[in-house]
Amino acid sequence: MRDATPQTIYLSDYKPFGFDVTSVELTFDLAPNCTRVRSKIAFEPKADAERTFFLHGKELKLISAKIDGTDVSPALSDDGLTCTVPDAPFIWEAEVEIDPENNTALDGLYMSNGMYCTQCEAEGFRKITYYPDRPDVMSVFTVRINGPHPVLLSNGNPVSQTEGHAEWHDPWPKPAYLFALVAGELVAHPGSFTTRSGRDVALNIYVRPGDEGKCAFGMQALKDSMKWDEDVYGREYDLDIFNIVAVDDFNMGAMENKGLNVFNSSAVLASQATSTDANFERIEAIIAHEYFHNWTGNRITCRDWFQLCLKEGLTVFRDAQFTADMRSAPVKRITDVIDLRGRQFAEDQGPLSHPVRPESFQEINNFYTATVYEKGAEVIGMLRRIVGAQAYDKALSLYFDRHDGQACTIEDWLKVFEDATGRDLTQFKRWYSQAGTPRVTVKDAWYAGTYILTFTQHLKPSATTPDPQPQVIPIVTGLLSPSGQEVVSSQVLELTEESQSFTFEGLAERPIPSVLRGFSAPVVLESELAENHAAFLLAHDTDPFNRWEAGRSLAKASLLDMVRTDAAPDTQYLDGLRAVMSQGDLDPTFRALMLGLPSQSDLATALHDAGDTPDPDVIWTASEKMRAAQAEHLKEILPGLFADHQVPEPYKPDADQSGRRSLANATLSLLCRMEGPERAQRQFDKADNMTQQLAGLSVLLREKAGDAALKAFEEQWKDDRLVMDKWFGLQVMQADPDQAVATAAALTEHPDFKWKNPNRFRAVFGALAAHHAGFHAAGGSGYKLLADWLIRLDPVNPQTTARMCVAFQTWQRYDAQRQTLAAAELDRMLATPTLSRNASEMLTRIRG
Ligand code: ARG
Ligand code: ZN
Repeated sequence: MRDATPQTIYLSDYKPFGFDVTSVELTFDLAPNCTRVRSKIAFEPKADAERTFFLHGKELKLISAKIDGTDVSPALSDDGLTCTVPDAPFIWEAEVEIDPENNTALDGLYMSNGMYCTQCEAEGFRKITYYPDRPDVMSVFTVRINGPHPVLLSNGNPVSQTEGHAEWHDPWPKPAYLFALVAGELVAHPGSFTTRSGRDVALNIYVRPGDEGKCAFGMQALKDSMKWDEDVYGREYDLDIFNIVAVDDFNMGAMENKGLNVFNSSAVLASQATSTDANFERIEAIIAHEYFHNWTGNRITCRDWFQLCLKEGLTVFRDAQFTADMRSAPVKRITDVIDLRGRQFAEDQGPLSHPVRPESFQEINNFYTATVYEKGAEVIGMLRRIVGAQAYDKALSLYFDRHDGQACTIEDWLKVFEDATGRDLTQFKRWYSQAGTPRVTVKDAWYAGTYILTFTQHLKPSATTPDPQPQVIPIVTGLLSPSGQEVVSSQVLELTEESQSFTFEGLAERPIPSVLRGFSAPVVLESELAENHAAFLLAHDTDPFNRWEAGRSLAKASLLDMVRTDAAPDTQYLDGLRAVMSQGDLDPTFRALMLGLPSQSDLATALHDAGDTPDPDVIWTASEKMRAAQAEHLKEILPGLFADHQVPEPYKPDADQSGRRSLANATLSLLCRMEGPERAQRQFDKADNMTQQLAGLSVLLREKAGDAALKAFEEQWKDDRLVMDKWFGLQVMQADPDQAVATAAALTEHPDFKWKNPNRFRAVFGALAAHHAGFHAAGGSGYKLLADWLIRLDPVNPQTTARMCVAFQTWQRYDAQRQTLAAAELDRMLATPTLSRNASEMLTRIRG
């Protein structure tokens, strides 16, 4: 039954647990429908502990419970048990039964293709046994597993391994959310790493038989991550073994369980034939992310789930630094900003807006958001920019020294920076508590040799932030001469007031400013600078991010004009683009990014911000026209660009080759708009790698010439789940707006539409939600189809359902008819009698 009044949890209500847990022993007797879990847990009451305790527990069948060897009868409820306990240290023992095979929610212990695996973050451990399932309770775990499987894994170091039995011991105290267990018929791709102090670590990537050939890249990424964390953060690995397991059914990307990372197979399995260059890059980043959690998350964890950004923001920031070092720093920054604007800015503009550190929630799994992760990482980046790289390193050393083994808060984190630098971070802390994206306006003035830049910041009041205060905004700024020379090199201007001016003396002529270089703060910048400012920066800026940004803002302004007034595409933009595209010494990846357009959803956001009502069909048409104009304007150089960026064998997924392929593929797409699909067909036919095969197929689909290729692709890849996810998704992505919903609906009838698998569900419905004009089709068919399927998925997998509800977050910005249709679907979902707490919280917030 649906919980009538879901409970809201508040940060301000935090109370420590009354007991220390000094050790945990778990024994698993595995069976698909009746796994037995025996626990033996040593508790020590703290000074002021009460004489009863509460242990979390969900969907458990309690077989027996003992305290110090004597049977007890705790009071059971839906979410745990309460029991009278001694006022001295005691041993709790319990035996419970669980049903992994029917655990379709994919948290706790569940089965995926015959293998057992776990997902305990945030609150899955309580579905395994009774326990104080909160991150500030840290303990040392010993785990025994009995089961007829060749591979039996848990956290820490192996103690013993015999047929049908394994024992593991993890010496590092950890919260229960980092517990993991895996059992199954798996094969290992082995490796090894020697730490800088000379300890040998055994590495393994465990996969299902048949996937052995897709592990080498992940293994190398793991070794690179281990080395990088030693070199850059001075962090060494701390166990004898590090295991990664690939699982097909997984709600998220991956999970940093101590010594036993569990990965969505899409986030680790890679091969030339089956993975795109983008897949390779993502896999490298996720492996790094989970590995880096070993220090930022595991050795130092969160006191409570409100502090989630403490580990996630920092770890995203660290994995971005890693990718920037491994590949191209400007390219990484540009792609991160595209992602930030697409997901985090959209979230912050709508009904799901919340601070980086939220102050209340009903279901914590709903707060693994772009704001916590990506804006959380931006906040760390700003902190580093403000204190400087050296002071940042000093603060991080202090953080690891001071807080190793602890469960911490944002206050602890900021105190470390205050102590290491002597700076007062009271005002900076507003980045953690105020929701919304600040708008910064810039204007300039020139008086007889003095140049003045004036910035104003504004944050719109919102439900969580009714009375916003000025934030500390680092604005990296350089000044260029009219001939494009850098006359004042990049420096950090710190905007702390609502409005503030910065003066530059001693300049021979009026400079051209380049502000917010590298996107030095997550703000919306509104320029009141000269008319041709962006065109100048597009031609001359020495900061690659701002050069890209100048092109983007010209494209955006032109598209908005086209949407509003049916104007023609801006030739100033197209001329500037052609100049950049013709510059052979510029990184091909960078040039491919220059060809990109703001997403249709970003355009809708901009229109809504300006008080207009976005029309998805008009935005679609304008974007198509702009694409055609790009093709036409670049037609002399496109064939050369395409030919010059073909990559000689052998295939490598590195930055250099993938950059060339991305420029060639962007060029291919434009060329085929003019020439028709033959070139794409040739590329599809002879491709020896997924990047080119998929790029060929996607152009063929767009050109309505993809039927044969689609069949061939399916025939070739029907046994590869991850590749078939691409096949499902691409058809929706490349459909015309009036066909997207019908295409998605038809795909749900395909025998391989295994909708309980989150990757497959997202392949179709994630693609539909991302198809702006398709999902927001005027008659509401997109809303209805997604709602039908979310209603079906919710009882099976509430976490993935709740996540997909985000597709509706922008419903209020469209016209009255679309709003009525969307609201009706939101209400229909909300009226589902068995709606999960996850979906209920999301839908209630979205409905407003
Ligand atoms: N800590 C994981 C990561 O970011 C994410 C796990 C989130 N799981 C969840 N059920 N919300 O690496
Ligand atoms: Zn993480």
